[in-house]
Amino acid sequence: MARIIAGVSSSHVPAIGAAIDNHRTSEPYWQRVFEGFERSKEWMRNAKPDVCFAVYNDHASAFSVEMIPTFALGTAAEFPIADEGWGPRPVPVVKGHPKLASHIAQSVILDEFDLTLCNKMEVDHGLTVPLNLMFGSPKEWPCPIIPLAVNVVQFPPPTGNRCFNLGKAVKKAIESYPEDLRVVVFGTGGMSHQISGQRAGLINSKFDHAFLDNLTKNPKKLTKLSHLELMREAGAEGVEMVMWLIMRGALDEKVDEVYRFYTVPASNTAVGHIILENRIKGAKKAAAKPAAKGKKSAPKMKRAAALQKIQRIRS
Ligand code: DHB
Ligand code: FE
Repeated sequence: MARIIAGVSSSHVPAIGAAIDNHRTSEPYWQRVFEGFERSKEWMRNAKPDVCFAVYNDHASAFSVEMIPTFALGTAAEFPIADEGWGPRPVPVVKGHPKLASHIAQSVILDEFDLTLCNKMEVDHGLTVPLNLMFGSPKEWPCPIIPLAVNVVQFPPPTGNRCFNLGKAVKKAIESYPEDLRVVVFGTGGMSHQISGQRAGLINSKFDHAFLDNLTKNPKKLTKLSHLELMREAGAEGVEMVMWLIMRGALDEKVDEVYRFYTVPASNTAVGHIILENRIKGAKKAAAKPAAKGKKSAPKMKRAAALQKIQRIRS
């Protein structure tokens, strides 16, 4: 039977993709971000999933205001890279797993979650940036990836509670697939950020850290956050974090947090990242060793300077 071995979450800031594509990752501003994912890539190399199920959001690339599916599952064999205005990113095409995706579609829809099925869909930075952060820049992505696009762009997005329950239905679907596949679930987007309006530039690190703590230990608490609370605390685009709850819902109740990274800012956004492993009996852990002190995020001085530049609603 297929089983979910772990969940990973990370921000999807488009400028991270631009830094990779323009070979700027070793510049001090970007090094601070990328060094936080070194251990994650090592974890992923050890984990060697057979398939990833990636919850992400489209930014008016595959969809537009003409069509806004709440939950769109990619059932295609391939997902081309979208042109977001400056040509498609030079990353490998995303290859899907139509057989497992169809099985998930059947199980989840019969479980009363009305998914939109996409046999043709382009994918944008919402998916490709987290793939780069977890896999680096290989010639081909190392495993098939099943995308699930969630509407967090046009009001109303799904509630956190709905997302958490959808995650549970995804877990049931994957765990009833007869092939022995090891699956990693991605939750992407966030953390706190607002990219337009009077509060543009808002970051709320206190909220973000509490969100990460609760994601591991008490995700039910997060399912009670309304959109308004999420947006007030984490900024208008912070609402993307409902997608992390799909990932968390797909994991077991008790998980091991094996890695966490947080740095501020990348572009306009607080970058947050977590790796949660299911406690599978007898399984070899892919465990990311805890980062050495001071390696987890930017050197304190630089970080403090960066923090001064942005508006924070709480210290
Ligand atoms: C930024 C972040 C996002 O999540 C996004 O979709 C677009 C821009 C930013 O920080 O600039
Ligand atoms: Fe976004």
